[in-house]
Amino acid sequence: MPSLNSDTEKHRTHLYGRRKGKRLRASLRDALDNELPQIRIDPEKIAPPCDPRTFFSPNIEKIWLEIGFGGGEHLAAQAQANPKVGFIGAEIFENGIASLLKQRTAAALENIRILDDDARAFLPFLADRSLDRVFLLYPDPWPKAKHAKRRFVNPTTLDHLARLMSPGAELRIATDHPEYARWCLRHVPVHPAFQWDVSGPNSWRQRPQDTIATRYEKKAVREGRTPMYLNFLRVVG
Ligand SMILES: C[S@@+](CC[C@H](N)C(=O)[O-])C[C@H]1O[C@@H](n2cnc3c(N)ncnc32)[C@H](O)[C@@H]1O
Repeated sequence: MPSLNSDTEKHRTHLYGRRKGKRLRASLRDALDNELPQIRIDPEKIAPPCDPRTFFSPNIEKIWLEIGFGGGEHLAAQAQANPKVGFIGAEIFENGIASLLKQRTAAALENIRILDDDARAFLPFLADRSLDRVFLLYPDPWPKAKHAKRRFVNPTTLDHLARLMSPGAELRIATDHPEYARWCLRHVPVHPAFQWDVSGPNSWRQRPQDTIATRYEKKAVREGRTPMYLNFLRVVG
């Protein structure tokens, strides 16, 4: 049986994001050392097909995944607003993980688990139809054509998400990068498992009402870029 660890090792050589940033304040370091182990998804303990509900208490009804949660403000707000949803946050940058841990403690959120590793390596380990919503907010755009294969949205990850998402589940992507938006529209709706959930010509301009702006989105707006919201549905069948 493969382990997540061996699979993440395989991906690690191809991981382009950074894991560490500026030196952490003592309280953030403490959160990583003492709180993360309590809610960390342990790669050593995962074997496919893994039902992510087993990470949570029995009152959890749905599972939502946020890939690359950055500072975690969106994930924490969602977890607070949806106490019966179990949230899995995947992030490789330890400053961001520490930030989410602080927000989790401040709001006493019980419904968050963290994968501090490459989300791409995690997907193959999850059971079919085990995810009820997936957020991919401001993924690294890798704007140069020669780096396009580094983009999170690609035929391989879409095949994984198609298998993992329950019928009717939403895949919510936001980006401020026009080429990444075009890339998504060239790849996601042509996949047989997904359709673009578009209510009108301007719906891509409207952030879903139940979400907040992420740190990256606020920065993009300050710098004059336009957020684009692309919502897709896992088709039934
Ligand atoms: C541009 S930032 C956006 C962060 C956040 N979603 C926001 O909107 O503020 C992209 C994030 O994705 C994370 N990331 C990139 N590749 C990843 C991967 N393979 N698995 C998990 N996280 C990843 C990066 O560490 C970074 O924090």
